[in-house]
Amino acid sequence: MDVCQITDPTDPRVREFARMRDPQLRDSLADGYGAFLAEGLVVVERTLRAGHRPRRVLTEARWVEALEPLLAGRGVPVHVAERSVLRAITGYPEHPGPLATFDRPPERAVADVLAGARRLVVLEDTVNPTNMGVLFRCAAGLGIDGVLLTPRCTDPLYRRSVRASMGEIFAIGWARFDAWPDGLAALRGAGFTVAAMTPGPGSVPLDAYDAAAVDRLAVLLGTEGPGLSDAALAAADVRLSIPMSNGVDSLNVGAAAAVACWVLGRRPS
Ligand SMILES: C[S@@+](CC[C@H](N)C(=O)[O-])C[C@H]1O[C@@H](n2cnc3c(N)ncnc32)[C@H](O)[C@@H]1O
Repeated sequence: MDVCQITDPTDPRVREFARMRDPQLRDSLADGYGAFLAEGLVVVERTLRAGHRPRRVLTEARWVEALEPLLAGRGVPVHVAERSVLRAITGYPEHPGPLATFDRPPERAVADVLAGARRLVVLEDTVNPTNMGVLFRCAAGLGIDGVLLTPRCTDPLYRRSVRASMGEIFAIGWARFDAWPDGLAALRGAGFTVAAMTPGPGSVPLDAYDAAAVDRLAVLLGTEGPGLSDAALAAADVRLSIPMSNGVDSLNVGAAAAVACWVLGRRPS
């Protein structure tokens, strides 16, 4: 492994990590696709396992031994710094493990994610990167084949999102619609039944819906504040709710996704 010590936070070799915010990292680098940042040993390991190409690693010395087998033979520069220097470089108060930059892969086409999928999650305007990561982890872990995003959704490859997913962003395919709600036509064209998750009145309780009778099902989840748009609700074949108790009006979108994916991930045998 190609290890070097960094003592100066302004060292140009660690510029990629230097207070670089996600949009800059995405847009600034040479190969047209930019980079994304993975943080933490497990996340770095899963990102590597998913086949992404590492660019550089920045870490405290205590993680070097664990990185050794992951990076052996890859020719990736590993920059080691004291905690105080690391903080000065990144501007983050804490580092739960090594940081690694990776080449950002090109985004996939919606048609590519639709092909062969039978259970999809469609996220309308999910803006919070932590929620995005949680949603991907739920979808991947609970039997969903892919995730589709509306144009205003945050980027799944932002640092907090990759971290909150524990690297499971890479476990299933995803793509972004060019236009919304026009993108619903592509779902219909591919034969998907569209189920809108909404706590609003008139919804069918989730446990009364026979998901196992539906061949191709797309599950719509709404934005964190107002929920699903009128257009999405109007276009859905069915509205489903998770019945609530104690006067609570709704769940966080990630918690709602966990319940919905568990029930709706079931498919005809
Ligand atoms: C924080 S909620 C938005 C709440 C918003 N007031 C509404 O009426 O939808 C974000 C998303 O999580 C899903 N959700 C949350 N609680 C739900 C419930 N009890 N039943 C069905 N979906 C729910 C919906 O897709 C919703 O758009």
